[in-house]
Order: sequence, then C-alpha cells, then structure tokens
Amino acid sequence: MDLSHDDPVEDIGRNPSANPAFGEIVALRLSRRAALRALASTAVAGVLAPQAARESAARTASSLTFTEVSAQPSTTHAVAPGYRADILIRWGDPVVAGAPPFEVHNLTAAAQERQFGYNNDFLAYLPLPAGSDNSTHGLLVVNHEYTNTSFMWPGITSESVLELMTRERTEVELAAHGLSVVEVRRTGGTWAVVADSRLSRRVPMTTPVRISGPAAGHARLQTRADPAGTRVLGTLNNCAGGKTPWGTTLHGEENFHGYFSGDAPADGEAAARERYGVGAGRYKWWGRHIDRFNLALEPNEPNRFGWIVELDPYDPASTPVKRTALGRFKHEGASTIVNKDGRVVLYSGDDERFEYIYRFVTSGVFDPANRAANRDLLDSGVLSVARFEADGSLHWRRLVHGEGPLTEANGFASQADVLIEARRAADLLGATKMDRPEDVEPNPVTGIVYAMLTNNAARKEEEVDAVNPRASNVHGHIVAMIPPGGSGKDADHAADVFTWTIPILGGDPAKPEDGAKYHPGVSADGWLSAPDNVAFDARGRLWIGTDTGRNWSKYSIADGLFACDTAGPGAWLTRRLFACPLGSELCGPEFTPDNRTLFVSVQHPGTDGLPGSSFDTPATRWPDFRDDMPPRPSVVVITREDGGEIGA
Ligand code: FEO
Ligand code: CA
Ligand code: CA
Ligand code: CA
Repeated sequence: MDLSHDDPVEDIGRNPSANPAFGEIVALRLSRRAALRALASTAVAGVLAPQAARESAARTASSLTFTEVSAQPSTTHAVAPGYRADILIRWGDPVVAGAPPFEVHNLTAAAQERQFGYNNDFLAYLPLPAGSDNSTHGLLVVNHEYTNTSFMWPGITSESVLELMTRERTEVELAAHGLSVVEVRRTGGTWAVVADSRLSRRVPMTTPVRISGPAAGHARLQTRADPAGTRVLGTLNNCAGGKTPWGTTLHGEENFHGYFSGDAPADGEAAARERYGVGAGRYKWWGRHIDRFNLALEPNEPNRFGWIVELDPYDPASTPVKRTALGRFKHEGASTIVNKDGRVVLYSGDDERFEYIYRFVTSGVFDPANRAANRDLLDSGVLSVARFEADGSLHWRRLVHGEGPLTEANGFASQADVLIEARRAADLLGATKMDRPEDVEPNPVTGIVYAMLTNNAARKEEEVDAVNPRASNVHGHIVAMIPPGGSGKDADHAADVFTWTIPILGGDPAKPEDGAKYHPGVSADGWLSAPDNVAFDARGRLWIGTDTGRNWSKYSIADGLFACDTAGPGAWLTRRLFACPLGSELCGPEFTPDNRTLFVSVQHPGTDGLPGSSFDTPATRWPDFRDDMPPRPSVVVITREDGGEIGA
C-alpha cells in the first residue's frame, strides 16, 4: 500500500507446519555443506575476474546485444541506448468508452470504474483478431494489484487514515482494484490506447464473478449476499497471472487477507483464517464501510478470495470465473503449458515466506480446433505441491481428498475442503517451504520450469535446506524445475518426479558475503536482487523483473528488467535493459509475438524505501512530472528505435 511504504502484506509468513520431517534433516545438512562449497567457489570466481575480463566475457558470451543501463536509482526511468521506453497508460486514464478524464483532486468511484486502475501488475497481450499473431494491434489485459492510499489523497498518514478514508473514498479504492482490458494499436512505430473501444473494459470490485469447480456452492463459500456460494463481486489483489492456450487470461488473487477486519465469530474457521493471515486488516477502513469486508458480518467472505480467476478478454460481456480446482492460496500468478499428451499443466506459486509451489494438471485435453471445448478445462484435474529433496529430485504430491492424510480425520470432509485450505493440505503432505515463490513459468523452448524465489530474510540457519540454501536470503534465487522426458515439447510436465537445480543466487557477485551465483561475466549493473515476474522471448531467453521493496536503498540499485540466456556460453549472464524510477518495482513483462514490443508495468512509483514520500511530498512525480500530479503507476512500452527485435 502503503502507509509505511514497506511491503508487509507479501511476506508475513504464517506457516506453522513442521515440514520437513525430522528424519530428513540430516540429509539436508549434508547437502547444505555441498551447497556452501559450491557457493564459495562461485563467489571466488566472481571476485577474481577483473572488470575488463568480465566485460569481454560478457560481450562474447551473451546472445543479448544491448548496452546495459546504469543500476543507479533516479527519479525517472532509463532504458538501454537505441531503445525507447514510452508511457502507454497511467492510473486514471480512460479505459471504458465514454470514461471521463482523470481529475486527481476529484476522485469518484463512478469515474474510477471506467478508468485505468491503480498499481498495474501482470500484463497479457492478446492479438486482434483472436487467434492471429498480430503484433501491432491487440488487447492488453492488466491486473491492478493494490492501492497506495497515501498517494491517492492528500494528508493521509498512519494516524489520520481511518478518519480520512470515508465510505466514498473507500469505494474509489475498491474501483481502483481488479482488472483492465485495453485495446492497443501500434501506428508508425508508436503504441497508443484505442479511444472509445468497444472491447476495452474494467473488472472492478462491483463486477459479478462466477465461482466454479469443486468448491463452488460449498457452505464455506456462502454469504448473506450470496446464499448459493456461486457468485462473488470482483477479484482482489491481482498480482501476476498467465494466459491459456485457448486465448483467455488467468489472474492470481494474492494478498487478499489484508482487506478484512473486524471480530470474526467463533465459527470453526479460526484456524483457517490464521493460516492465511486473515484479520490482520491492513485496509481497516474497508471493513468499517463495506459490510462484506467486516468479518463480524460476513465471516465467509475471505474464503471467496485467494483463487485464480479466468477471463475471456475477447468478449467484453463475459463473466470472469474463479476456478477453485486450482486451490486457494496467495497466488502470485499461473503459467500454463500444453503437455505432450495434450493435457494442460499450470504452475503457481504461493507468495509468502515459507510457502509452497503448486502444479495443476487438467483431466481433459486441449482442443486447438474448438475454443469452446476448452472453456471449463480448468474445473477438473489434479492439484499437487512440490517437495524438493536434497538429492536433486522434486516430487509432486497430490492434493486429492481421501488420499494419504487428506481425510475426514484431519478435517477434510471433501475435495472442497482440501482446496479451500490448500495450505494446510500441503503442510500435511510434507511440501517444501520456499523463499516466497513469485512467478513459476515454463520456458516454452526448453520445457524447463523456472521458479522465482524473491527473498526471505526470515529464514534462519537451522531452516536452510538444499533448495533454499541461504539463511537471511535478502536477494532471492531462481530454481530450475526440470521435467523428465526430454526438452521442449518432449518434456513430461505431468510426471510425478522432476529434478531441480539452482542457476542463480541473487546479490552482488563482487561481495563474497552475498554468496551470489551467476555467469562470471555479470557486470556491476547486471546483478539482481529479488527476482519477481518473468517472461520468455521466442528464443527462450529469460527476462526478469525485480522487486527489492525498500532494500534498494541499501544497495543503491534501482529495480528493473534483466535478461539472460538460459543455455549456451551466455547462460545466466544477466544484463540490465531497464531501470525503474525511484521507489517502484517492475512487473508484468510481456512480449508481442514478433518480440519487437515489450510491455512492462511500473508499480508504486515514489513509495518503497522512501519515508516521508506521499501525495503531498512525493520523492518523484513520475511519469507526469507536474506539480499538481502525484506519481502514477503506469504501463511502459519498450521498443527499439530501429524497430528490431528486443534484445537481438
Ligand atoms: Fe504481489 Fe508476489 O508480488
Ligand atoms: Ca507487487
Ligand atoms: Ca509479484
Ligand atoms: Ca513482489
């Protein structure tokens, strides 16, 4: 949000389970020694390589040809020479046909419901017409994760916020959440939003969303406003997402817990609320003014969030759907790949300290010839959770009611219970506690799945394991999850057992104490901290956005966008293409099919790590730089001045 400009909702860490089992600790300790030896040798290689040798190694090793941009924080953004980075759309800009122009001193819910929401995060580009690979005209689907209240209105402080956030203002905040679908077109090398498009729409917190899958209609999802438990208004805290092979978009509901407050009744949900952090109430004024966010009035409402939402952006009248078969947790996003047998496999991380990585395999197969046949594919299949062993194997353990510990005796009366409390089910299955899983995404070229573990400063020495090898992991790391069966389309994403490796440990390679691991050619501008959202280009190269939160100021590095090869002589040689403006993070990287346009989200400019920065005295007024305008989260469109392929 946030009043303190920290990032407290994403890393509260409430996993009380005792995973891994005690008997396995010895094995983990042994592998930890091996991991530390590997870290030491990598760090030494990094230190000893002279700068000139590193630069020369970089030039010859990497397939990425751009000149790196400086890591130095600045009030504005920066992109590599020869590239353009233009503002496409900002908080408050018109989206729905007939939307009024933005008036920052006169915010209304009615206007905000038709204007671009706050804190744009995930971006999906869908070509127009549907099914084409048009790279100059399409729909940009956008998540609006949360609101920075103290940057939307003047005078808001931690002390004054409850008093100043009236019902009217709270409704503006609700309207600034959700999704946007924006028709965009490239004309003469410049991208612009198509005005008054018939396809552009908002999905704010007043939009009816259907609940489907095994938990739909369950008593735990029923409320006074929705006694059937099948229809909820809106989608909350949409962080990252994904696209399906049939041209719909997926939207994670991440930190939904922070919107609920009030005294919950003694109704048997207390343990589940605690496991998800519900009741901590960051946005306390929501519960004060809007009944369903008050736990005393609608105690089941939190069970209706924490899902993956599917949207058909090509149909502006379509009803979004919460797909409960995919489980309820703090979904960062959801990435899909079609398995070699035609089933669709979806990977999703639960972004909180010591939480888990999940996989869903559909029961049915994808039909490329009949879009409608895929409509409810995500309603049936098997959800699994990852357990990483120190021997380099990864075991997918099934969250299926009646199997193993997921029985009535443990409080799971049905598959709906397993899905509503997916975290507790995963605890009982011995899942591996990770360092905050953000994007988990398959490389379409190699078939290898990469998980971004953004950071976990709370991991203690005695909690270190082979796959989370650093205590106080402030810089995060990347885990490669390798399905059996071969590369690319031969990979078997439905297999029970994968293998895993760690290609990158974040941090400064020039500081041995960081224990960083990259290609030795990484420069002083090219190292990264807190990997978050990623994209793959058509060559299978990895593009990584970072979210260091307030930590950027300790290292004097801006968040930004980095790219590297994942194979060959330039593998894991990260290079910086883009630097974010002060206090913002980089989300949602998304390419057009021709790789000549790269859309990125700049979220919460002027906020993180900047005490005293607010609507009244912002540390930056990016991107408008007008005295009467606060900083505004915006989508940036990156192209090459010569029109060529990004990074080529
Ligand atoms: Fe909203 Fe996990 O970042
Ligand atoms: Ca974020
Ligand atoms: Ca994120
Ligand atoms: Ca993040």
